[in-house]
Amino acid sequence: MLTLHAEIENTNILLKNNRIIMTSYKELGLVNTREMFAKAVAGGYAIPAFNFNTLEQMQAIVQAAVETKSPVIMQVSKGARNYANGTILRYMAQGAVEYAKELGCEAPQIVLHLDHGDSFELCKDCIDNGFSSVMIDGSSLPYEENIALTKKVVEYAHQHDVTVEAELGVLAGVEDEVASEVSHYTKPEEVIDFSTRSGCDSLAISIGTSHGAYKFTPEQCTRDPKTGKLVPPPLAFDILHQIEEKLPGFPIVLHGSSSVPQDEVDTINAHGGKLPDAVGIPEEQLREASKSAVCKINIDSDSRLAMTAAIRKHFDENPGHFDPRQYLKPARENMKKMYMHKIVDVLGSDNKL
Ligand code: G3H
Ligand code: 13P
Ligand code: ZN
Repeated sequence: MLTLHAEIENTNILLKNNRIIMTSYKELGLVNTREMFAKAVAGGYAIPAFNFNTLEQMQAIVQAAVETKSPVIMQVSKGARNYANGTILRYMAQGAVEYAKELGCEAPQIVLHLDHGDSFELCKDCIDNGFSSVMIDGSSLPYEENIALTKKVVEYAHQHDVTVEAELGVLAGVEDEVASEVSHYTKPEEVIDFSTRSGCDSLAISIGTSHGAYKFTPEQCTRDPKTGKLVPPPLAFDILHQIEEKLPGFPIVLHGSSSVPQDEVDTINAHGGKLPDAVGIPEEQLREASKSAVCKINIDSDSRLAMTAAIRKHFDENPGHFDPRQYLKPARENMKKMYMHKIVDVLGSDNKL
């Protein structure tokens, strides 16, 4: 079998069997997080990190970022990458940059980030295929093993000018195949040692957020006597402030930061859905966190809710529709509205390009 292995003139692209097997994010017009995070920490705002799986989510993210003049992180989990396909994603990310320019943004700042990478091999594959940032999530490992794994990823990533997010402390709930029933808050006394020895560029911490649309059990919440809605317990800002004191200016990341908007939950439930007692992180608390060293805030569930609410409503009102464009268009609009709201009213990353 003939194997063609050609390194073409531009060393950022590697071809094998006439297929691109290695592409630097720089070829795609993406940026890493380094400068973006430094500005966000200094400026007291946070960069939105929106998860995506579909074309419509990506379009809505780019439209929202361009209209608000915000830098943005488009992130994909291992599951999302399997769903969308790594090769297609690479072109989607390049498409996102070109689309942003077409919409009038001269110099878009878009990061393609791996969310919850669970092995060195996965991180390497993403780095080799156009990602500008990766997360290695060793939070479920013993401390020393988390450091060793993170360090290995950092060493490879930095050779390619790719930035690395690590995690210390465990969030409650399901973290993309990293399961934990309880929340182990990050220990402030460990953060200097961890970040110094691992060499990570940013650190995801656990201060009471968690993944999904059910962040707290009803028993962990109080109930608003007027509305009957659940009121979640506050985030551990004391721990966040202790971490900031230990690592002045170091970029901190919050996962599990969807707010689970009650109007979307109500729309879903009013149109055949069943999401009782879904509850998220109040936006005032995220606004507060954005002003601190928290410079990346992860939002996935709110996009899923916005999409599902619009689609359920559309089908209920238009039972004869079956062209995907008919129901995906309002879904895309609803997600865009949500993304813009987060950027402008919660994270404060608008007009920062
Ligand atoms: O933190 C996890 C993200 O919400 C991604 O979820 O693994 O279902 O794509 P996923
Ligand atoms: P949510 O489930 O709160 O949207 O969290 C998303 C997340 O942390 C992705 O890594
Ligand atoms: Zn997460």
